[in-house]
Amino acid sequence: MPSIRFDSVAKTYENGYNALNNISFTIEEGEFFVLVGPSGCGKSTLLRSVAGLESIQKGSIFFDNNDVTNAEPKQRNIGMVFQNYALYPHLSVYENIAFPLEIQKKNKTEINDAVVSVATQVSLQNLLDRKPKELSGGQRQRVALARAIVKNPSIFLFDEPLSNLDAHLRAQMRLEILSLHQRYKKTSIYVTHDQIEAMTMATRIAVMKEGNIIQIGTPSELYLNPKTYFVATFIGSPTINTFEGKFIENKGKYLFQDTKSGICLRVNSIPENAQSQENILCCFRSESCTISPSSKVDGAFTFEYIEYVGNESLGTFLSGEQRITVRLSANFSQDITQWYTLHSIDNQFFCFDASTKERIFE
Ligand SMILES: Nc1ncnc2c1ncn2[C@@H]1O[C@H](COP(=O)(O)OP(=O)(O)O)[C@@H](O)[C@H]1O
Ligand SMILES: [Mg+2]
Repeated sequence: MPSIRFDSVAKTYENGYNALNNISFTIEEGEFFVLVGPSGCGKSTLLRSVAGLESIQKGSIFFDNNDVTNAEPKQRNIGMVFQNYALYPHLSVYENIAFPLEIQKKNKTEINDAVVSVATQVSLQNLLDRKPKELSGGQRQRVALARAIVKNPSIFLFDEPLSNLDAHLRAQMRLEILSLHQRYKKTSIYVTHDQIEAMTMATRIAVMKEGNIIQIGTPSELYLNPKTYFVATFIGSPTINTFEGKFIENKGKYLFQDTKSGICLRVNSIPENAQSQENILCCFRSESCTISPSSKVDGAFTFEYIEYVGNESLGTFLSGEQRITVRLSANFSQDITQWYTLHSIDNQFFCFDASTKERIFE
């Protein structure tokens, strides 16, 4: 199982569009590495460059210490699974899975053994005679998965393979893909625009934006220590709360005040060097703040609505046009006439410079 190393990789499409800018990082052998970012940020371009389906203008790609930058796709020993399945419609499930082995001119017995074994692993053993159009979306994606596995590749590449499936099937297929990874420990790159998919599946994640890698880390590193405002707002559900303003001291209390709306987050203390700075983005997650009933003081909140999520609830509170989400106990009693003030728990907030969007006061 090789590691995959990108060394200053850049890609410009023929129309002059810079899809990848100077990408350098390493995926370790056996990792389940996820590339995540909004649509159009260059995820598929980077993945296709690993497969050799896309040429790059600058830089190099290495599998272990082998420079594969100019290697043909078929020399790279890769199994790839796409969003749209890319099955051959006129071939049966059996023939679709067998196809890569036919190309490799394996003998009939060998092919049959491999197809039956892999089909069983992805629960397709009873559907081998069907054509793709006679299968559900989930079953089609299993065929695509089986066709990638049967080649016994050293690297797996997945490009949004679950995007066409409904939520329930998606969750189930996630687990199946992870259990296959557990079994084979093949170096894998998985592309998705869905941060929840990234967080639940990855050993490590690279967050991409506009052809750049913004931050690489384990799911918890990205969640607990975002280096930019983009990562703070992209990772995590519900989306992190943001106030824009400055820290103030008022009658011995410390507050972060949103300049436009005037609303406040009570904090334990003001971070070092933050006293004199204006134009700060202060971000805090729904579990990092709490509300308490108050009189109608400046910047207080009212209750707007509640979403039950089993053992806890997500409450949305409103002050002027500013909405915030707070995790509440399941027995929170709703009262639309009550005013609330907002407190940070243990100063668990992240500050970013409002113009550079970079983390400050760490
Ligand atoms: N063949 C192409 N020619 C020109 N621009 C392209 C081509 N393919 C993709 N792009 C552009 O490159 C950017 C990155 O595309 P892509 O890698 O597909 O993004 P993602 O997979 O993150 O959605 C997008 O802005 C897209 O429009
Ligand atoms: Mg894509």
